[in-house]
Amino acid sequence: MNSFASELANRVKKNQDRLQVLYGRESVHWDLSAKCTTERLKVFDYKSPCGYSIHLQQQAAKNTETGGAVWTAGVQLARYLEQRFATTASKMKCLELGSGTGIVGLAFACLGGDMTLTDLPKVIKHSTAKNVAANIEAVRKGGGNVHVCEFSWGDTTRETQLALLGGLDSTNSVNISSAIDSKKITYAVEQTRVPFDLIVASDVIYSKQTAKLLFSTVLYLLQSRELTGTPGAAELILSFDNRGRTGLRWFLDKILQAKHLLLVRSVPENDMKKGWVCKHISVYSVRLV
Ligand SMILES: C[S@@+](CC[C@H](N)C(=O)[O-])C[C@H]1O[C@@H](n2cnc3c(N)ncnc32)[C@H](O)[C@@H]1O
Repeated sequence: MNSFASELANRVKKNQDRLQVLYGRESVHWDLSAKCTTERLKVFDYKSPCGYSIHLQQQAAKNTETGGAVWTAGVQLARYLEQRFATTASKMKCLELGSGTGIVGLAFACLGGDMTLTDLPKVIKHSTAKNVAANIEAVRKGGGNVHVCEFSWGDTTRETQLALLGGLDSTNSVNISSAIDSKKITYAVEQTRVPFDLIVASDVIYSKQTAKLLFSTVLYLLQSRELTGTPGAAELILSFDNRGRTGLRWFLDKILQAKHLLLVRSVPENDMKKGWVCKHISVYSVRLV
């Protein structure tokens, strides 16, 4: 195993252990017959206090790297969104960056939101799209809508479409209808020209390089309401594991330095219901001012 793969295997193992402590032993299922940690990754079952369940397949590292596992920051962000938007999500349009297994985007869609999940092409194919297809009934029951698109930060063509049209056209969205009953869902993203109200991302910074790409992308996307002449301000909500994420300090400093443009608020622990807090995770809210 090379050093990246072994570091990833260690992080995956620690994270899955933490998920079991936080959300119960039964939430994580391993395939114990497989040889290494990343291949043992199997299922994460998320039972929401809002009444729905999400069943997520976790994949081996080869095709998805970090996007094949559920990360604690993702579950915490899902919980934060549930607490804050349980009664308003159905009127909101939300974009997720770096969706991975889809825990955050699926949670918001299960609350009734109009949700677009994005990630790198190989992650969409091997992880996000499959999980969205498998959980579509929960989304339907919650009254939500879900779209899945390939989007790599810094891809200015897609960035512009997302900002100005509020989605990508059907040639850029993923057709996963073959995986499910196609009558139940439309996957083409309608270009509604309604910009996003909310942009979310969990645990998406782990190098200065990814931090730089993400910074320029979110800065642009946050301006989409202004660019389209739509009233109101979009909000960006991010969650991070505080421990050892290279690039995170750089990213937060960049936002703080852009004082005339952005305001950062660290969402305090007491904003979260008792029992929903994980000390190692921070949630940040960013808006244009
Ligand atoms: C640690 S995982 C987090 C996944 C998920 N948000 C969660 O919390 O469980 C980081 C995610 O960011 C995605 N990512 C990394 N660099 C990216 C880029 N340049 N463009 C789009 N997505 C990227 C990865 O593919 C991966 O799915």
